[in-house]
Amino acid sequence: MSNLQTQDPIISKAIEAEAKRQFEGLELIPSENYVSESVLEAMGSILTNKYSEGFAGHRYYGGNTHIDVIEQEAIDRAKALFGVEHVNVQPYSGSPANFAVYNAVLEPGDPVSGMNLLDGGHLTHGWKVSATAKFFESHPYHVLPNGHTDFEELKRIAKEFKPKLIWCGATAYPRTIEFAQFAEIADSIGAYLVADISHISGLVAAGVHESPVPYVHIVTTTTHKTLRGPRGAMIMVTKKGLEKDPGLASKIDKAIFPGLQGGPHNHTTAAIAVALKEAATPEFKEYAKQIVKNTKTLEQEFSKAGIKMVSGGSDNHLLLLDLSVNGTLGSQLEYAMDVAHMTANKNTIPGEKSSPYYPSGLRLGTPALTTRGFKEADMVHVADWIVRVIHHIEGDALPKEQSERAGFIKAIHTKYDADPFLKKIGEEIKSYTKAFPIPGI
Ligand SMILES: Cc1ncc(COP(=O)(O)O)c(C=O)c1O
Repeated sequence: MSNLQTQDPIISKAIEAEAKRQFEGLELIPSENYVSESVLEAMGSILTNKYSEGFAGHRYYGGNTHIDVIEQEAIDRAKALFGVEHVNVQPYSGSPANFAVYNAVLEPGDPVSGMNLLDGGHLTHGWKVSATAKFFESHPYHVLPNGHTDFEELKRIAKEFKPKLIWCGATAYPRTIEFAQFAEIADSIGAYLVADISHISGLVAAGVHESPVPYVHIVTTTTHKTLRGPRGAMIMVTKKGLEKDPGLASKIDKAIFPGLQGGPHNHTTAAIAVALKEAATPEFKEYAKQIVKNTKTLEQEFSKAGIKMVSGGSDNHLLLLDLSVNGTLGSQLEYAMDVAHMTANKNTIPGEKSSPYYPSGLRLGTPALTTRGFKEADMVHVADWIVRVIHHIEGDALPKEQSERAGFIKAIHTKYDADPFLKKIGEEIKSYTKAFPIPGI
């Protein structure tokens, strides 16, 4: 019996149940992954006990000799891995990291531009309900009907509104981010160009996706997606960034502390350092290559099965299915897949005809399954399970009348919960996943 089992059975049982769920299912959410045992050890360490506001060598609390070593090591590893001039490893997560960038280089009310959320952008890139749109003037750009960035629109926005900051990088964009095209537009108006590579930082670190570093002034990334570290984030300043503004590194640091945050989460910093060491290995390069190969296999299998994909496929770790032609929606498919032991998330598609609550798309990614050891042949099975579920729920279309929708969704959930076909797929998956370990489980 562990201490937790004895002292807090409610929390202990919930953790065990979650471990079982993770082990017996297929994790297809593109922003999720499984960290190594070493990352887990660093996260669960006594470093969580320590306060260390400030930065290495300049702290507002005593007793930080060892914390300084850890934070400096994380910074040095990130600088070497991404080829940048300055790194801040203290952001609590991706959203505060992005807000700190606004805080560092803008004044309230300044114009900004990022990809529209419904087209694949992130909340913090200026979506209307985010604080980023409340405190700054947001002019979102969109994607074309073919799913690729609409650069003509961004040029018009640049000319008319002169954004002081432009975001590139997204949350649901299955194609290579066109850093050079963004840089041409940002440079033409003297705007800061920031690449949010949260989704693709593991691919960038491994050289599988082009690096934004030569093109942008600032790079932000979460550390828990393809980079396969703990939940956290980093802000990086490039050579181009320092050329534009020699004070940029110090502005970023001050925007994090004391501008936005207090004490850094030292257990997370240590775990980030561990993940960065792992990401610099040849094994990690192979892992990142395999992520893309696995997505390509899904793309090929969905094509064969006649499943429509936004932009026709993927260059990276994720795919966006367009179910508007299948007589169902992402909202129904997400639930049916859950019953069948597959976790994915419903998502809007470009030109969404339904609504963000009941979107037409489903977002799928391969980073987590690739960590478990899934290869192309396994992905053929994964595609087959998904296609079978899609066909099984075909015709479960959302009622046209808005007032009937909540009742319909409730009834659909009850139906799927008891559906023997979905349960049988769930059993097949449960037995298949037994051969694929997850660190820490
Ligand atoms: C592109 C992008 N940026 C930022 C974030 C925010 O990260 P967090 O959830 O850690 O705040 C996400 C998370 O999904 C993301 O996809």
